[in-house]
Amino acid sequence: MLKDGKIKIKTIPSFEYGVIWEDPISGHRVGCLDVSKKEDVKKLMQNEKAILAVQDPPYNVDINDEFGNLPLDQYMNWSNKWVDNTINILDKNSSLYIWLGADIKKGLQPLPDFIIMMRNKPVSIRNFITMRNQRGYGTQKNWMAIRQELLYYIKGEPIFNVQAEYTDIPKKTKGYYKEVNGKITENFERSKSLTIRAGNVWHDIQQVFYLMHENIEGCFAQKPLKSAKRIIEASSNKGDVIVDFFGHSGSSLLQAELSKRKCYTMDIDPNYCKIMAARLLHFRRSGEKGWGRNKILKDGKILVNDEQLLGAPTLLDLI
Ligand SMILES: C[S@@+](CC[C@H](N)C(=O)[O-])C[C@H]1O[C@@H](n2cnc3c(N)ncnc32)[C@H](O)[C@@H]1O
Repeated sequence: MLKDGKIKIKTIPSFEYGVIWEDPISGHRVGCLDVSKKEDVKKLMQNEKAILAVQDPPYNVDINDEFGNLPLDQYMNWSNKWVDNTINILDKNSSLYIWLGADIKKGLQPLPDFIIMMRNKPVSIRNFITMRNQRGYGTQKNWMAIRQELLYYIKGEPIFNVQAEYTDIPKKTKGYYKEVNGKITENFERSKSLTIRAGNVWHDIQQVFYLMHENIEGCFAQKPLKSAKRIIEASSNKGDVIVDFFGHSGSSLLQAELSKRKCYTMDIDPNYCKIMAARLLHFRRSGEKGWGRNKILKDGKILVNDEQLLGAPTLLDLI
């Protein structure tokens, strides 16, 4: 324990199925749990409700997918369970974002099937977002696959902080005049920002690649912190509880820390739970958002020791 009452963490918690680590500094939770099991979700939430859920399940598509493909009816059966378990722990006014894919080789499953299933759930669709997310180099015979779909559902009347939607891209279109209170005004005079809104086609987010600090080498499905920030800051306020039950590289967890929210997250795989907790602790120690080009994982197994994961000791360790 430090003099100011803060707890210093020197070791990374170890995970096995059923273990939940509670971060003593910001109150985040990381559980090695199964989202399709109601009792596991309950164990993580301990009767608290979330204002926002960001879910990024395996897509049943075989690009870099460690989980293989299930027959569609089995995948939908499983999806049905985790969706119900998620909706169950959402606040009466809350948002649910779900990343999903469509397999071009198999009739675009599972996206349309999932959308139809969602029509029977006690949430309503609010938007259908596409993010540009280039994975690989494509072929010379087809349009390159760069889209990533994001379904946005709501329960009740959740908050939406529109400021979070503005990009860094300057507005260019001048010359749209309109009369406001008897005065002719120009586009720029009326606008709330000098940059454009992201809208529901996010083309301004760089996919994570190996030269970026936030890269977790070996995490095959890592989402950029920028997309996590946009979602978290649009659909929750500081201090709110947000959840991500398919944690993987911990993008939602780290962004929750950066945006001052509390994140309850899980992954069924103990190695990804460890990566998430280590990423948070490594960030606190070094200010770095990932391990860049260092090889951290291969085939889901962690390649480096805890000291290397935590990074170089800082002066804080001498106190
Ligand atoms: C597509 S990745 C999520 C990527 C994440 N959004 C990120 O930015 O790193 C899916 C994750 O779900 C986990 N997973 C698969 N089945 C699960 C289950 N039943 N319960 C909890 N996690 C599960 C996998 O281990 C994998 O790490």
